[in-house]
Parts: sequence; structure tokens; C-alpha cells
Amino acid sequence: MTTPAHVAIIMDGNGRWAKARGLPRVAGHKAGVEALRHTVRAAAELGISWLTVYAFSSENWSRPKSEVADLMGLLRIFIRRDLADLHKSGVRVRIIGDRTSLQPDIRGLLEEAEVLTAGNTSLTLVIAFNYGGRDEIARAAQQLAEAVKRGEIASEDITPELFAEHLDTAGIPDPDLVIRTSGEIRLSNFLPWQSAYSELIFQPCYWPDFTREHLAEALREYTGRERRFGGLAACDVAL
Ligand code: FPP
Repeated sequence: MTTPAHVAIIMDGNGRWAKARGLPRVAGHKAGVEALRHTVRAAAELGISWLTVYAFSSENWSRPKSEVADLMGLLRIFIRRDLADLHKSGVRVRIIGDRTSLQPDIRGLLEEAEVLTAGNTSLTLVIAFNYGGRDEIARAAQQLAEAVKRGEIASEDITPELFAEHLDTAGIPDPDLVIRTSGEIRLSNFLPWQSAYSELIFQPCYWPDFTREHLAEALREYTGRERRFGGLAACDVAL
């Protein structure tokens, strides 16, 4: 298999990274932002076209208020400090997740990032922020139910393809590869619809320790796998 066009990453382990060093959790998230910066660069250099990262889940609101505020603050800093560099490097930014409950200044920054970089053609960085897969699917179902109620479509017209057009990821190809760091082996509500046929790779390192070499190693493992999408392996087709 060739290089995956779309890699999605669950950046897990910031808290444990900080704890192992006797540091506050926010230090782990700050180091996580640094890891994100070099991963965006590495992904572009390694020929990846789409990189989706899980930066804040809709379940993360249940964390202590101070940690939620820290994560919101880090997003503000990331967009303010890095947007110009991302734009200069030709990176297009897309945001997925429910923006309605975010503070107005954050909504403004997210929109600014998307508008400024909309015409860029290098890597597309998709930031999942206030994102939860089940929430995304429920919102898509609500939109379609409204369209049926208005008589714009019939319920029989709803196919997986039409449904996908109402997800936050409309227009974004499904991830070929999903990576999760920190040794946890689950997807935790990250892209449940889109990852139906994704290859999954779980790496033991904590997110702040993630390097270009970890990404390259995941790509090598991906290349050695065979994806069948419910069909047969190429070598079995003729049998
Ligand atoms: C999981 O680690 C990580 C998160 C909940 C947030 C990920 C955020 C970043 C990498 C930085 C923010 C980036 C942007 C663009 C705002 P955890 O806290 O669950 O770690 P633990 O499982 O070890 O406690």
C-alpha cells in the first residue's frame, strides 16, 4: 500500500507525560502543542495530504474548569501564533466539531483560520475541537430529518453517501490510518463513521514525545498492511 492520503491522530497522554515529570497537566498540553507543530511539518514532508487531530472532545468539558480553560487558551495561542506560519506553508485549516457552545472569540478565530487558508493546497489540517462522533452523527440526522419534514428529500433517499454530506467532515476523505498514542487501545468517539475501514495503529509513547520517526514508523506499518474494504485480498481474487 502507498502512503495514506489521510492520517488521523488521537493525541493522548499529555497528562501522564506531565505527571511522570512532576509537572502540572497544563505543561503536558503545552508540550502537546509543540508535538502538534512538528507533526504538521513532518506530515507534509512525508506526503500526507490530510491530517486530522483530536484536540478537544465533547466529553472533555467534564474535566476540571481550570483544565478546560487551559485547553481553550492553548487553542487561542495556537491559532494566533501559528496561523501565519501555517498559511505561509500552504496549509489549509478545517475545523470539525460543534462550535455553537464555544466562546464567540474562539468561534471567530476558528473561522478566521478557515477563511484565510481556504485556498491553500498543501496539507489540510483538520482540527477536531469540541468534537464527538456520536454528537456529529446525531446533528447530521437532525439536519436530514428537518429536510424530510420540509419535503426537500424523501426518507428513502437517505443513503450513506447522502448522510456523509451532512457530517462535519463533508468533502474530507475518510482517514486511511488512525493513530492513537499513549498505549490506550480504543477510538473514544473519534470519527466513528469515517473510520469504518481505517487501519488502526496504537503507539505506546505519550503524545508530547511523538516525533517524525513515530509517524514514519506508523506509515511503514500501514504500507505493509492490505486493505480489503469487505472484498477479497488481491491474491485470492483469481482463486
Ligand atoms: C489527551 O491527553 C489530550 C487532550 C485531551 C488534548 C489534546 C490537546 C493538545 C495536544 C494540545 C492542544 C492543541 C490545540 C490545537 C488546542 P490527556 O490529557 O487525556 O492525557 P492523559 O490521558 O495522560 O491524562
